[in-house]
Amino acid sequence: MEIKTVGVVGAGQMGHGIAHVMLRAGHKVVLLDTTENFVDAGAKRIAKGLARDVEKARITAEGCEQALASLKTTTEAADLAAADFVIEAVTEKFNVKAGVFRTLEPHCRPETIFASNTSSISITRLAAATQRPTKFVGLHFFNPVPVMKLVEVVPGLQTAPETVEQAIALAASAGKTPVRVNDFPGFVSNRVLMPMINEAVFCLMEGVADAQGIDSVMKLGMNHPMGPLELADLIGLDVCLDILKVLYESLRDPKYGPCPLLEKMVAAGWLGHKTGRGFYEYAEKKA
Ligand code: CAA
Repeated sequence: MEIKTVGVVGAGQMGHGIAHVMLRAGHKVVLLDTTENFVDAGAKRIAKGLARDVEKARITAEGCEQALASLKTTTEAADLAAADFVIEAVTEKFNVKAGVFRTLEPHCRPETIFASNTSSISITRLAAATQRPTKFVGLHFFNPVPVMKLVEVVPGLQTAPETVEQAIALAASAGKTPVRVNDFPGFVSNRVLMPMINEAVFCLMEGVADAQGIDSVMKLGMNHPMGPLELADLIGLDVCLDILKVLYESLRDPKYGPCPLLEKMVAAGWLGHKTGRGFYEYAEKKA
């Protein structure tokens, strides 16, 4: 099956980025969120990103116009009937994600593939919550989506080989490098990344160094492009906490237990870039 139209559910940080790269690759996109405000904000960010692509000669002005014309935004699940492939990118909670797929199911064609951009939740379990477990797959993009090359492609236990092939082909069509990873909590990316971020928060809590010191060590000593605390601010401290909880609860190993300082910051609403304050302050967002 040729994938012409991609449905993206969730117009936030990950969803708008996924829609952007799919449009840039020449696909039609239907972008769904719960309110007009959310979809409009997502569409504005996509338009800004595509304009930047023209500036940087990644696409032509004509390509940009075509991409913008290929975007449909909606708050109606029924509009996803047009989609050949749906990628969900909503809050990192099992019930919310499963609820999205249950809502979409009656509107989407039986052959339409469902994918989740979850960063840690079991694909097997999400697939089992739908009527199409063989046509369900994990497709895990990285933030910022237009820049990061990797997509983890995660088959659940029930996923058909053709579904995996279609997911790999779609990721490749968007200029990404798909890497197939089995369905274990946190896959590879967050199984490795989150313990590092969590340990950096413990270092901060215990006064081993201040935030800048910790980040400088990892940037200058390990050549990481961002320090772990800067990166946590980019990802969102709430997202990091949710992922650590999934790792902790599903692998039943205390080494994944979230640092109390991380929990406290999330309770305070200090979530990183998106709220203007995390381990650092972001004046632009505050203003
Ligand atoms: N959103 C969109 N685009 C961004 C961006 C953002 N937040 N930050 C930077 N960019 C773009 C810039 O606009 C620039 O694009 P152009 O080519 O159009 O100029 C490009 O990225 C490079 O940016 P800069 O030159 O300003 O900065 P840089 O070279 O320092 O790179 C970075 C910025 C790409 C974010 C780099 O610091 C980096 O790779 N950081 C690590 C990011 C990372 O690890 N992401 C994965 C997080 S984990 C995840 O997403 C999955 C999960 O499950 C939690």
